[in-house]
Amino acid sequence: MFETTGLHIASWVIGIILFFAAYALHKQGNAKGSKITHMILRLFYVFIIGTGAALFIFHSSMDAALYGVKFLLGILVVGFMEMVLVRTKKGKPTQVLWILLVLALLGTIYLGFRLPIGYNFFG
Ligand code: HEM
Repeated sequence: MFETTGLHIASWVIGIILFFAAYALHKQGNAKGSKITHMILRLFYVFIIGTGAALFIFHSSMDAALYGVKFLLGILVVGFMEMVLVRTKKGKPTQVLWILLVLALLGTIYLGFRLPIGYNFFG
């Protein structure tokens, strides 16, 4: 169950949806809805990192360096999502963090699909 990528993919897909939902609810002035969504998102951070770490433990011996980069990028995506939400709620600028989030997310998805386990869209 934790050796294949299904649960990991489900975790980050739901996580990304929750991230945008929490952001949109905040922008619409629904502070309570945004707070609850953000709390559920934080639970999904645990699922994303947990399922990712399990995949890493099972498979990283195939290519330790690239799996290490995948691990770091994945953690960065979670970190940038959290920073964007917290800074948005505080009314602080988030432009740079959005750029970093998009770059880290694209890099993580590319590398994940490139690495040997699961889908291999990029060869
Ligand atoms: C939101 C953050 C993340 C996204 C968008 C993401 C995305 C992906 C994608 C697209 C795959 C490929 C699935 C497949 O080929 O079937 C994958 C696999 C993987 N992810 Fe993540 N991931 C994230 C976070 C993490 C974290 C935090 C870790 C480590 C703690 C991690 C470790 C791994 C590992 C080890 C694999 C297996 C690589 C392989 O395909 O061989 N990921 N991830």
